[in-house]
Amino acid sequence: MPGARRTIVASLFLVFLLLNLHYLRHQRPKCQHSTLHDQRSQLWQQLHPLLARYAPQCPAPILRGSAGAVRFDSVTPIPREDYIENRNEIELPMQTAHDGFVQSLHTLNSPRAFISGTKGIVTAAGGTYLPTLVVTLHLLRRTNSTLPVEVFLQDDSEYEAEICERVLPALNANCILLSSITNTNTTRIKGYQLKAFAILFSTFETLLWLDADNIPLHDPALLLTSAPFTTTGLVTWPDFWTNTAAGIYFTISRQPTPESTSRASTEAGTLLLSKRTHLPTLLLAAYYNFHGPEYYYPLLNQGAPGAGDKDTFLHAATALDLPFYAVRTPPVDIGRMNTAAKATAALNAGFVQVDPGEDFAVHRMGPDGRKGAGLGLTPRAFFIHAGAPEFNPGKELLGRKLRGLDGRPARLWTYPPMALESIGFDAERVVWEETVSVACAYEGLFVSWRNNTGLCEGVRAHWRAVFKGDDVVVGG
Ligand SMILES: *[C@@H]1O[C@H](CO)[C@@H](O)[C@H](O)[C@H]1NC(C)=O
Ligand SMILES: *[C@@H]1O[C@H](CO)[C@@H](O)[C@H](O)[C@H]1NC(C)=O
Ligand SMILES: *[C@@H]1O[C@H](CO)[C@@H](O)[C@H](O)[C@H]1NC(C)=O
Repeated sequence: MPGARRTIVASLFLVFLLLNLHYLRHQRPKCQHSTLHDQRSQLWQQLHPLLARYAPQCPAPILRGSAGAVRFDSVTPIPREDYIENRNEIELPMQTAHDGFVQSLHTLNSPRAFISGTKGIVTAAGGTYLPTLVVTLHLLRRTNSTLPVEVFLQDDSEYEAEICERVLPALNANCILLSSITNTNTTRIKGYQLKAFAILFSTFETLLWLDADNIPLHDPALLLTSAPFTTTGLVTWPDFWTNTAAGIYFTISRQPTPESTSRASTEAGTLLLSKRTHLPTLLLAAYYNFHGPEYYYPLLNQGAPGAGDKDTFLHAATALDLPFYAVRTPPVDIGRMNTAAKATAALNAGFVQVDPGEDFAVHRMGPDGRKGAGLGLTPRAFFIHAGAPEFNPGKELLGRKLRGLDGRPARLWTYPPMALESIGFDAERVVWEETVSVACAYEGLFVSWRNNTGLCEGVRAHWRAVFKGDDVVVGG
């Protein structure tokens, strides 16, 4: 009967349609993923030869002496010291190579290796940084942030299946191996160098870079949708130290030499970047980092504390004359004043970095376009870069710094009061809650914890002694 036949045909068609829909639903993310993966690989296949072709054809800079630890001073200018001994030998070849690379950026015809409109957080955290990162991610989620996180690892040797396939996805984070993109021997890109490449190959168009030990106190999504980020596409935070790039660097990169008072060195454990506006910055920063350990790290830093990728991003932006916002409020050390009998000892445990939106507002609202710091406003704390110690009990966390001069367990973050006020809540307590939770849920799971025993008990004991709290309920 034609009627029944039509029904059968219609049913078959419906089944076919549903199967197709099902197929599309389940295939599309994979397809997109593999396309993105191909685009990343293509980008690398175009970029890698350029990085190699425009390698400086000269010996590495030789430092005589060191810029040392000079505090940044925004008022009194100091002369820019030059410690490069073989200046005459390297200036022209490095400039020629730099010119060549910058020129090649205009013709680079690479595909977009990111997904338009996406926002997220990028980090790198192999080995002993992985447990620290998991604590940080627990704290990120406590701010109610839903931003996805991409965790870059150098290669297979850093891949921890349990963490990458179970623990991190539950925190909306996933692992990406740099070696799977470059498909070549990437031992050349390691340590600090990884950051520029991780940002370059991340999925996100606009992103926050976060060091594994850098704890957000509020949902960072806000920073990606407001000024000064939306108006510049690049926001950096200051270090304690003055910018000690060698004068010769500014000749090499053909840009005016900035006054020492104009901005501090960068503390690049926190960075906001938009690839829509700053892809060239990122590519030039990748160049500086690829040739960093030999050439650009000594040139940009000259022996000041913390040589590495830190100053490559801002200098890349200024070399290309692209806009940026460098947060003005300096970082503030937090720690404890240990007092016993007549002795007092300061202990640094980390530092606070402020809300760039509030920093921008405070420094804009002053009369005559002058800084508004005199108005007595202090931007709120937004991050605690908790590096000394990191909240990783498998590392140095359960060490001497947890005890006061009297030998008893003590709080870490009690000084200075102003900084604690700008944090606005008992962040140390919250951090310990998550540290206990991570240590007790994943004891024995992280590769770097395999030889440690009693981590859970150790952090629990400190928690009980200092916070006198009820036992933390361990989630997972
Ligand atoms: C997160 O969301 C919960 C549920 O809406 C709310 O109770 C809590 O106060 C929020 N936390 C923060 C830090 O905003
Ligand atoms: C990678 O390169 C380094 C240095 O160039 C070399 O020592 C190492 O053996 C290489 N590894 C592989 C797997 O090719
Ligand atoms: C654990 O101890 C063994 C034996 O001493 C050693 O070979 C291994 O490298 C250690 N692993 C870690 C992650 O420290």
